[in-house]
Amino acid sequence: MNKKRVLSGTRATGKLHLGNYLGAVKGYIALSEDPEYETFYMVADLHSVNTPYYPKDFPKKVRSVVLDYLGAGLDPEKCTIFIQSHVPQHIQLFYLLSTQVSVARMQHLPTYKEKVKQYPKDVNMALLNYPVLMASDILIYKADAVPVGVDQLPHLEVAREVARKMNEKYGTDFPEPEQFKTDGEYVPSLTGEGKMSKSVEGSYITLVDSLETIKSRLASTPTDSGKGDIKEGLFFSQESMKEASVPEDLVPSNGVGSLMKFVELFQGKEKRKEYESQYEGEGVRYGDLKNELSEAIYKHLEPIQERRKKFEDDPKLVEEILQGGAQKARKVAEKTVTEVKAAMGLI
Ligand code: TYM
Repeated sequence: MNKKRVLSGTRATGKLHLGNYLGAVKGYIALSEDPEYETFYMVADLHSVNTPYYPKDFPKKVRSVVLDYLGAGLDPEKCTIFIQSHVPQHIQLFYLLSTQVSVARMQHLPTYKEKVKQYPKDVNMALLNYPVLMASDILIYKADAVPVGVDQLPHLEVAREVARKMNEKYGTDFPEPEQFKTDGEYVPSLTGEGKMSKSVEGSYITLVDSLETIKSRLASTPTDSGKGDIKEGLFFSQESMKEASVPEDLVPSNGVGSLMKFVELFQGKEKRKEYESQYEGEGVRYGDLKNELSEAIYKHLEPIQERRKKFEDDPKLVEEILQGGAQKARKVAEKTVTEVKAAMGLI
């Protein structure tokens, strides 16, 4: 049977947070357990050096993502786990694909504009090329499905365009990759503004947080009186939706909206409904809500942390997993590069 392929990745910017886990890694796991798919998951180290970073800390950050993957439940027997730069073919294909992408197209991507605002003194070529390298990551495995959160959709669209252009111009056979969605494809920030993100302090809970830390992080989520018109309290503002270019029903505009989303994700839809009726009735006691929610989140994270610790204590095993993963990935990647070079007339 010809299996469908999957590729996804995470930048090495620190510990994975609930956004990464619910929006992406849960999807990685689901697909790796489906025998119809052959799955490749990488740490996108090359994608992490286009904004300021500390080389000395970097190896630890890269390994930390691998440990988060393994802790979260990715099974190296069922999927290929590797480090992006260990498969140099990604860069070879990236260059060839970049012939199909205009500079203007890259300059107009919302993620690029965001980074330019964030790091006005570090606007480099790698940043502009980011989506083309991402297209290469995906297309080199001829991936059909890509588990990512909504923030990555503009990049996925670039990969689709590149696949189409390459197929039309050079007769290659790249599938047009599609997003694999999870319930957490948009995890809001604990601050109630925008999405959970590593670059916004106070916005996230990491996979390795203790119960105390989770409680203290949730303590700072802003709330309201707990009583009133549900549309005002829990609904979504047009402004934040536009900013994040996210579908209307996915963006909570305030802390209460974020809390409700977390209740839904960790305690279920019924629990959310309970709070909504309390909101319109006797009122919600946010202290109790936050305590219960913290416990529910921690209950979910505890086995992840235990598994992570086991791998952390066995660096040799982790090294073996990465070497085996890179070897497997390189084999597939090399084949695609050879095909594309031939199709483009390179000898
Ligand atoms: P990165 O490292 O920013 O995020 C990793 C994954 O986590 C998802 N994510 C979220 N999902 C829901 N809610 C959130 N608040 C949230 N925050 C992050 C992201 O959508 C992503 O799926 N460019 C990618 C890395 C990459 C890649 C690839 C991904 C490089 N090459 C090829 C897929 C395929 C990135 O920066 O993800």
